[in-house]
Amino acid sequence: MNFDKAINRINTHSDKWDMMEENYGVDPTKGTPMWVADMDFEPPIEVNNALSLMAKQGVYGYYGNDKSYREAIVGWMGRRHNWDVDPDHIFSTHGLVNGTALCVQSFTNVGDSIVLFTPVYHAFSRVINAADRKIIECELEINNGRYEMNFDKYDSQMDGSAKMAILCSPHNPGGRIWSIAELKQVAAFAEKHNLILISDEIHHDITFGSKHTVMQNAAPEISERLVMMTAATKTFNIAGCHTGNIIIVDNKLRAKFAKTMKATGTSPNSFGLYMVEAAYKHGDKWVDELCEYLDGNRKILDNTIAKIPGVKSMELEATYLSWVDFSDTGMCKADYIDRVQKQAQIASSHGDTFGTGGETFLRFNFATQREVLSKAMERLQKAFNDLQ
Ligand SMILES: Cc1ncc(COP(=O)(O)O)c(C=O)c1O
Repeated sequence: MNFDKAINRINTHSDKWDMMEENYGVDPTKGTPMWVADMDFEPPIEVNNALSLMAKQGVYGYYGNDKSYREAIVGWMGRRHNWDVDPDHIFSTHGLVNGTALCVQSFTNVGDSIVLFTPVYHAFSRVINAADRKIIECELEINNGRYEMNFDKYDSQMDGSAKMAILCSPHNPGGRIWSIAELKQVAAFAEKHNLILISDEIHHDITFGSKHTVMQNAAPEISERLVMMTAATKTFNIAGCHTGNIIIVDNKLRAKFAKTMKATGTSPNSFGLYMVEAAYKHGDKWVDELCEYLDGNRKILDNTIAKIPGVKSMELEATYLSWVDFSDTGMCKADYIDRVQKQAQIASSHGDTFGTGGETFLRFNFATQREVLSKAMERLQKAFNDLQ
């Protein structure tokens, strides 16, 4: 796959490109969008072929018989994650933000609390707040430049109101792959406080050498309270198809989730199912090459950041989202954001939207053509020239 191929996404209804001027004041013809988590790459050819086949037939009716689609998910999880998934345990939602919302509806009531390990992917809090649930923010600690959890502290924050916890694994925005020992600690925490645990593993295919372990394998002993969420959408850059996998082993938990699916009339769109099936069946080599390419991009970004005094990027084990701390520049937020957006012409996600602990950070999505990234990094370095 040629990830260097230039692709113009301006005026294509791309959120990342076509909304950045409105959101960040960065002109897409001059600047670089490094915010929303999608990539500027075409998916594996088989995904586009699947859509072409649909278009060739030219009829877009209701989708039925999803056996081959489920088999494709089972095959991928077995091959790539050593995870034996029962096809009957899979639900298809409209992506994982929708999946999160359906979990909130299924397993908590209005007024209950939900634990988030912050800073963390911002849509979790958006969904929880909109559903009139409360958030208990268990803040991650930075030790030796990476996020770790402190369960003694989190235990003391529990007041009996929490019914659910959401773990982001691998972690967005910190790029951590949690170790098996850490996953077991999260599982024990969920047991201790009687929480349903949602493990959002949407980023689990994009890793840089370290091995990700799915929570279901790390802690099968908590199956009765575990909901797994995965998707092909980040992995294969098909987020627009809005299709996610919710995988639940426990019968009672599954029945509750199935009821919410019914109550909300949730059933997937056929385009998503065609695309996901093709990706999971044929995308292995593509993902291996993607990770290699992204690793090169990661190094370019890290090398640039390392040259700017007071600015630090967290070492990424997974995801194409670099988490960069500006706290040691001594600048106020408005100043460094002004330099990034106005001088470097880069739109990056503001850290405070990720919850407590994210305030001094910006998140940079580096999943773009290397040439585009290199130019953006030249501008970034220039914008902080006076510090060097
Ligand atoms: C951890 C995490 N979960 C979910 C999503 C979005 O999921 P979807 O597009 O399937 O709603 C993202 C997107 O960046 C994410 O980082």
